Amino acid sequence: MTLFNAARAVRENAHAPYSHFKVGAAIRTTSGAIFVGCNVENVAYPEGTCAEAGAIAAMVAAGESDIAEVLVIADSVEPVTPCGGCRQKLAEFAAPSVEVALAGLAGETRRMTMADLLPGAFAQSHMSKS
Ligand code: THU
Repeated sequence: MTLFNAARAVRENAHAPYSHFKVGAAIRTTSGAIFVGCNVENVAYPEGTCAEAGAIAAMVAAGESDIAEVLVIADSVEPVTPCGGCRQKLAEFAAPSVEVALAGLAGETRRMTMADLLPGAFAQSHMSKS
């Protein structure tokens, strides 16, 4: 299973009755396992969750925490990049060099690194006191 096929398949299960914008995400960990997630919207709009958050939750629930690669897929003209909150969530488990592939329904269109997506990321090192 490729990351693209995994993300494309899970995207179909997205619950997006409000935005009508389905997103799929697939994470490959350093063990080689793939974890997927889709966006799950809620009638109380802020309670909705992004595809990336779902994939991260599945990964952590399976006892894994070391992200090797990410792919996000949506049906859009411009490739969809993870939202700000998801960039921070991914950065918890993905090194700055980890690549995030952005895909449309026909295939991958762009690759960025975590460092591209979240320069100057807040990290645990920032909490060491002076
Ligand atoms: N969405 C994601 O799931 N991931 C992203 O990277 C961008 C946005 C979802 C949230 C919401 O359900 C819909 O897309 C429209 O914002």
